[in-house]
Amino acid sequence: MKKFYITTPIYYVNSYPHIGHSYTTLACDIVSRYKKSRGAPVHFLTGTDEHGINIEKAAQNAGVSPKEWADKVAAAYKELWKILNIEYDDFIRTTDRRHEETVQAIFEILLAKGDIYLGNYSGMYCNSCETYMDETEAPGFICPIHKKPLTEVKEETYFFKLSKYQDALLKFYENNPDFLSPSFRGREIVNFVKSGLKDLSVTRTKVAWGIPVLSNPAHTVYVWFDALINYVSAAGLGAKICKDKAFFETENKKAGVKNFEDVWPADVHLIGKEIYRFHAVIWPAMLMALGVPLPKKVFAHGWWTVEGEKMSKTLGNIVDPKKVADEYGLDPLRFFLFREVPFGADGDFSMDAFVRRYNADLANDLGNLLSRTLNMAAKYGDLPSAPHKCALLEKADALDKEIEKHMDALALDKALESIWSLIGDMNRYIDEKKPWALAKTDEAAAKSVITDLIYALRRVTDWVTPFMPSTGAEMKKRLSPGPVQKYAPLFPRLEVKK
Ligand code: MSP
Repeated sequence: MKKFYITTPIYYVNSYPHIGHSYTTLACDIVSRYKKSRGAPVHFLTGTDEHGINIEKAAQNAGVSPKEWADKVAAAYKELWKILNIEYDDFIRTTDRRHEETVQAIFEILLAKGDIYLGNYSGMYCNSCETYMDETEAPGFICPIHKKPLTEVKEETYFFKLSKYQDALLKFYENNPDFLSPSFRGREIVNFVKSGLKDLSVTRTKVAWGIPVLSNPAHTVYVWFDALINYVSAAGLGAKICKDKAFFETENKKAGVKNFEDVWPADVHLIGKEIYRFHAVIWPAMLMALGVPLPKKVFAHGWWTVEGEKMSKTLGNIVDPKKVADEYGLDPLRFFLFREVPFGADGDFSMDAFVRRYNADLANDLGNLLSRTLNMAAKYGDLPSAPHKCALLEKADALDKEIEKHMDALALDKALESIWSLIGDMNRYIDEKKPWALAKTDEAAAKSVITDLIYALRRVTDWVTPFMPSTGAEMKKRLSPGPVQKYAPLFPRLEVKK
């Protein structure tokens, strides 16, 4: 059975990870855990993008070799993913031999096919984006993202025939309406492609820290051409197109990939909005040229600002997810990021908003519900295990389908909203039925209300687990059949710190 294949962007190792990188990786983790909980085989890939001039420079500043530098930052990424409880299946580094050789093989295939050709380029270049820009993209030749002036670059370069794929791309978008997601971002891509595609320079002669072109090692492969290929090099394409089959078969085994077709095409490439064009235009064109099927969906989420400002080193306002998790707990952070902002839109991270959400949704709605229910249940002996039916569970069945629909559409915020709608119903049910008062006149009726709540809470447990894995495990323990025990609150209330 083909696995559900989900990917994060591979992150640049020029600096250390922050809340923005964590956001994408957490989203993939949540979707991956959800799919697994439904019994689907999943392959979840993340990794690091390690070539190019910016990494060369970062290493130089640190006084180490680019590879030493990349090793250090890649390790920091892996460490953070462990702290954030991210269960990826494979971690690819663009300095992995499996990746470098796949890139080289792809380059030669496209060269032989005529989809890559040698030419000359002169243009204005943003060193931070590692991309050429014309005046429409960078008014006044100032990079709109980095606000830095572009530099003029003239060089011999290989081009990828992107222009050849303009019509095929437009047809593809039309025939695959789910490919460009969310749809409001898709429109921008369609307009961009309609406005005309130019061939893309895909090698550099001045960048030493890159993958050399096999047939002309004076050139190294352009970082973006190199990086995008990670999605197939990690999926085992090398075993089909590279020479050393035995090496690739061993690598694939290590990565948990039997055959390329068992994972490819990717089901979702999840990325931030600023790299949408690379994924929605260049990448599919590269795959078309290669004759490899296209991914099913490219989903671009929005950007986080912090207390209303863009995160930046200069402003010193970069949010370190480890610090937030240390101070307030990891699960509340995982919850907040996906409950606060519709997935796909931009959002603002503020401590006020975080504390408000925590207290309202976690401490009050969910935490209190669990303690109230268990405290009342303690009066009536063991937690039940026999099959059970009630109106709350009927509603839960309907919600289960709704949640699945939202998760498939990557509407993570809506899935949480659906989960919390049952939590709201349960809290209202307690307030209406007042089991503690009811027990005085009709003990059986009171007990049955509490039983309903326990079963419904078990459903909630399954739903929240992908978002908050430790909380889910703890709830499962507290709610499992058997004697009721006394526990500390799941989410102690937070005071607003100034
Ligand atoms: N290396 C390229 C991606 C190559 S993929 C074939 C790259 N790396 S990056 O380190 O700059 O990471 C960019 C990604 O980090 C964004 O696409 C997004 O997923 C995440 N974010 C970084 N900052 C962010 C915010 N402030 N807000 C939300 N996500 C952002 O681009």
